[in-house]
Amino acid sequence: MLKCREWQNCTKVSGMRIGKRGVFMNKKVLVISSSLRKNANSEQLAASFADGARAAGHDVEVVSLRDKEIRFCIGCFACQKTKRCFMHDDADVIREKMLHADVLVFATPIYYYEMSGALKTMLDRANPLYPSDYRFREVYALAAAAENEEHVPQRAFSGIEGWVECFEKAKLAGTLFCGGVTDMGEIKENPILQEAFDMGRKI
Ligand SMILES: Cc1cc2nc3c(=O)[nH]c(=O)nc-3n(C[C@H](O)[C@H](O)[C@H](O)COP(=O)(O)O)c2cc1C
Repeated sequence: MLKCREWQNCTKVSGMRIGKRGVFMNKKVLVISSSLRKNANSEQLAASFADGARAAGHDVEVVSLRDKEIRFCIGCFACQKTKRCFMHDDADVIREKMLHADVLVFATPIYYYEMSGALKTMLDRANPLYPSDYRFREVYALAAAAENEEHVPQRAFSGIEGWVECFEKAKLAGTLFCGGVTDMGEIKENPILQEAFDMGRKI
């Protein structure tokens, strides 16, 4: 059972919870799930992470890139002056959510030893955040793949780390990989979901 009652009996005061164990800073967590198929393995990792963070008392929102229209960044760099993108599609809302989150979580299937194209496209379209007063300080990366070897998610994690490194106030705070899952929903019952929950609970 994925449950945690740690901060249940606390008083909530503008983003803080005051309980027996001291002051707890309530974080705004945005989880971006980038698999475009339903019942996706990486999406379930994301859901368990989100459940853990919620159980610890954080404000959590999960956004899926499924059914979203997000065009490729064309590299015009206009956003570096305007802090906006001249294109308007579903990236607008997601980028705005990214701007105001304390914690970002990216969940991706491994495609050819890399992150999904959907996630990469979203990260590129988040370029207006670079000159902005973004709030996020911690980023987590979750990945699922068919093969179950250590090297399988490394390029994806390294790509995400590269994105995070560009945002000097932020750091890659943790990664979690589930290998050995190919079909939709195959991750169900996998003990790694508990690890994802615990990771979310500990942020
Ligand atoms: C285009 C494509 C490329 C893939 N490349 C890899 C790969 O390089 N290594 C691997 O282990 N699995 C690979 N897979 C399998 C997926 O990573 C695996 O099915 C995973 O569970 C998908 O995650 P999801 O359910 O979150 O979408 C690939 C799947 C697709 C569709």
